[in-house]
Amino acid sequence: MEKNEVRLEDLPGIGPATAEKLMEAGYSSIEAIAVASPADLVATAEVGDATAAKIIQAAREAADIGGFESGDKVFERRKLVGKLTTGSKALDELLNGGIETQSITEFYGEFGCGKTQIAHQLAVNVQLPESEGGLNGSAAIIDTENTFRPERIAQMAKGVGLDPEEALKNIHVARAYNSNHQILLVEKVSELANNLINSEKPIRLLIIDSLTAHFRAEYVGRGTLADRQQKLNKHLHEVLRFADLNNAVAMVTNQVQAKPDAFFGDPTKPIGGHVLGHTATFRLYLRKSKGDKRIARLLDSPHLPDGEAVITVTTEGIRD
Ligand code: GTP
Ligand code: MG
Repeated sequence: MEKNEVRLEDLPGIGPATAEKLMEAGYSSIEAIAVASPADLVATAEVGDATAAKIIQAAREAADIGGFESGDKVFERRKLVGKLTTGSKALDELLNGGIETQSITEFYGEFGCGKTQIAHQLAVNVQLPESEGGLNGSAAIIDTENTFRPERIAQMAKGVGLDPEEALKNIHVARAYNSNHQILLVEKVSELANNLINSEKPIRLLIIDSLTAHFRAEYVGRGTLADRQQKLNKHLHEVLRFADLNNAVAMVTNQVQAKPDAFFGDPTKPIGGHVLGHTATFRLYLRKSKGDKRIARLLDSPHLPDGEAVITVTTEGIRD
């Protein structure tokens, strides 16, 4: 769980001015540069092709990513995987015990289907002891739509027997004002996690609600789609790295393409398409049912069968 102490300026070919340009373009860490393409850097940092390639190579070495790891090491880490309860037994069972750490779980669906409600519930549940389905940790929320509601947390905390004020203290919330800011906040969360790592409540949950809203608003038109996907992909890899390093749950929300009239819009398809599909280890499609019932469908999981669970949104929180 070491923090990467290398700064952008420490890489060969990056002076303070270039470092600043890169930061502004969303390359807030060595890791972000390590997975960038040379063309990206040429465009954003105004360096030549050869320099860009050199910078990326240096970042890869400094970040120590993209290498091989022996199977037994992977297995050791997998043994530490924790499970976080959703509040619904049916949904936990669908997920074989709850939402896994060291993975990204994506909830997608149309407005009002309960994505933000589930996010709030997880931020409460993560604080519970492991015997009650929690991870005995605290939560970080990157809120892009200003939909975090302390009042809701208080209700849900009472619903699981936690002191509402204590519960709120263990939830760290940041508003993200645009996609670059959102990317930067993942780095801030890593710093926060490092500070809390030996505390009573280390960060065991990172929520990004919504993952795609800013990207969708900022990248309009088909010409910009490739740029958007590449940036989103990089962002997700940083989120996954956070989840790995902190043995934390990463929960992201995503809307569906809302325009069934458009040629390319499928109302049941999540924003971000297949890039997100490959990185999000678990994807759940939420849809409204009768009254306060919602149906969660698990799709394309690497080691779980597809299936559905019915959940209920109540005043006390998510239940069966
Ligand atoms: P978008 O962010 O707009 O895409 O939607 P979302 O999927 O995040 O929806 P959200 O989680 O905000 O769900 C809103 C719905 O949750 C409301 O329409 C209500 O049905 C339900 N809800 C919210 N608060 C309460 C509450 O206090 N009690 C109950 N019973 N239901 C609630
Ligand atoms: Mg929402």
